[in-house]
Amino acid sequence: MRKKLIAANWKMYKVPDDARDFFRNFLPLVADHSRDEIVVCPPFVDLPAAVESAKSSNVAIGGQDMHWEKEGAFTGEVSTAMLLAVGCTHVIIGHSERRQYFGETDDTVNLKLKAALEAGLTPIVCVGEVLEEREAGLTDDVLRRQCLRAFHAISAKKAAKLVVAYEPVWAIGTGKTATPQLAADAHQLIRSEAAKAFGEKLADSLRILYGGSVKPENAKALMSEEEIDGALVGGASLDPKSFAAIVKY
Ligand code: 13P
Repeated sequence: MRKKLIAANWKMYKVPDDARDFFRNFLPLVADHSRDEIVVCPPFVDLPAAVESAKSSNVAIGGQDMHWEKEGAFTGEVSTAMLLAVGCTHVIIGHSERRQYFGETDDTVNLKLKAALEAGLTPIVCVGEVLEEREAGLTDDVLRRQCLRAFHAISAKKAAKLVVAYEPVWAIGTGKTATPQLAADAHQLIRSEAAKAFGEKLADSLRILYGGSVKPENAKALMSEEEIDGALVGGASLDPKSFAAIVKY
């Protein structure tokens, strides 16, 4: 049995005081929840406030991105050491918004994944097709390519902590959710790519999250699908009650 992971991606929302407010309201709602792992990924400047607020709770904190170099002249970037130093345990890599708007490529995703695993962070690697690719029947090709390149030259031993998130881009922030069956099909393909790269054993234990308009209303149907090992939640994770309802689907 894979323990599900329910992760919040706050994107570019909330200042540190908002983060503190969120945890003040959210933590009591999930205090006795141990069925699933819970992770919140706030903007970088909120990380210290989030870590402090979630201290000694069942909620872990992650970054939304990272650089693959340990340090250097990379203005605006954040390293794995910096994420670890403020208390992060997780990091999102290759989110479609990074790919769409900030030049993230399959190759930089691979570099980041290697660096995150090396540093001992739990990486949540995002893959997913855009609408035109789905309509052109290219979904499988896109997912295969994204996985192949992301997983390139990483050993099964190193990949032990890997988490993948399937986020069809057409479902992000649109209110359109993939049907549980459609998501399950994509998850199966991702799992078979993981098996090719890392072997069956790791692929069997690999958690593949679904992301894209996950809400309290649709969380149960999605999470009941055997192939879906959790959720990466954007909009609906900003409100403590709604994110708690998703966690407790
Ligand atoms: P929404 O839940 O707002 O669709 O965002 C999904 C997402 O991109 C999570 O990373």
